[in-house]
Amino acid sequence: MTVAGINKICVVGAGNMGHQIALSAALAGYKVVCTDISPEILAKAEQFADTYLPERVAKGKLSEEAAKAARANISFTSDLKEAAGDADLVIEAILEKLELKRKVFAQLDEICPPHTILATNSSFIVSSKIVDVTNRPGKVCNMHFFNPALVMKLVEVVKGPHTSEETAGTVMEVCKSMGKIPVLLQKEIYGFLVNRILAAINQEALYLYDMGIASYEDIDNAVVYALGHPMGPFRLMDLTGIDLSYYIGMERYQETGDPTHKPSPIVVEKFVKKEWGRKTGKGFYDYS
Ligand code: CAA
Repeated sequence: MTVAGINKICVVGAGNMGHQIALSAALAGYKVVCTDISPEILAKAEQFADTYLPERVAKGKLSEEAAKAARANISFTSDLKEAAGDADLVIEAILEKLELKRKVFAQLDEICPPHTILATNSSFIVSSKIVDVTNRPGKVCNMHFFNPALVMKLVEVVKGPHTSEETAGTVMEVCKSMGKIPVLLQKEIYGFLVNRILAAINQEALYLYDMGIASYEDIDNAVVYALGHPMGPFRLMDLTGIDLSYYIGMERYQETGDPTHKPSPIVVEKFVKKEWGRKTGKGFYDYS
């Protein structure tokens, strides 16, 4: 059941995360408009919806009616005004660049009616760094999904000092209505819960690799077959994007000044070579 007062959701950014967040919301019965400035990315997102839904039906995981309804619920446009103009909730999932996010939030604040909640899916930028470009501080928060968003159940809802109880509550309820398990962070903290824990694992895995102790395949095997994780840290970086690991490392280093937070040499090398993981066809592993 959808949440009262939230009829239309706009997802800004149709990339790695956005297209799956949008489809999750459409599957939950919301009217969703997915928007991106790149026509290519938008076309890819639409194509994904057109193949994913019939595949779920063929797999016996979704009824034909549910697939049809979800497809009818979601539309795609590169026009931000059209996408967000009458949205009740906007989930921003664009590149992890603060200035870009601030620009988009300022535009959204102008475009959207006063009741609209503006949430960012950022993995590490807290909404306090964005909120001052809007005139609706109580309605701004973090709503952080995990990759692949159609599969991963957890969503971190993060309250900034400006976020109202009502907004946090509504966003938690929207997550639940999408079949997710939301967790509420009462205060902002860099990396939230999951990425702080993941960063510790990644830092150690990269240290072991950079020291020449073991190959990344063997480190992944150690984590999968001894700790029971579904995939090892290197395969996971390929999934989430090595570019993201690089940006997170740089941002953390700039914030703390601690050189151990800098991206590791292999992450820098892969970043420069544009070997960013699945999205570029090669990362630590080959996907071509
Ligand atoms: N998109 C959508 N669905 C996908 C998918 C994708 N990219 N990859 C797999 N799936 C679905 C499959 O369709 C399948 O669904 P059903 O079981 O309902 O048929 C299910 O996931 C399992 O898929 P597979 O059998 O092909 O493969 P698997 O069992 O190895 O699972 C995985 C793949 C779900 C990705 C699993 O390996 C996993 O959970 N990995 C860990 C992912 C993780 O830790 N994510 C968090 C990343 S951190 C993050 O996101 C933070 C951030 O800020 C960026």
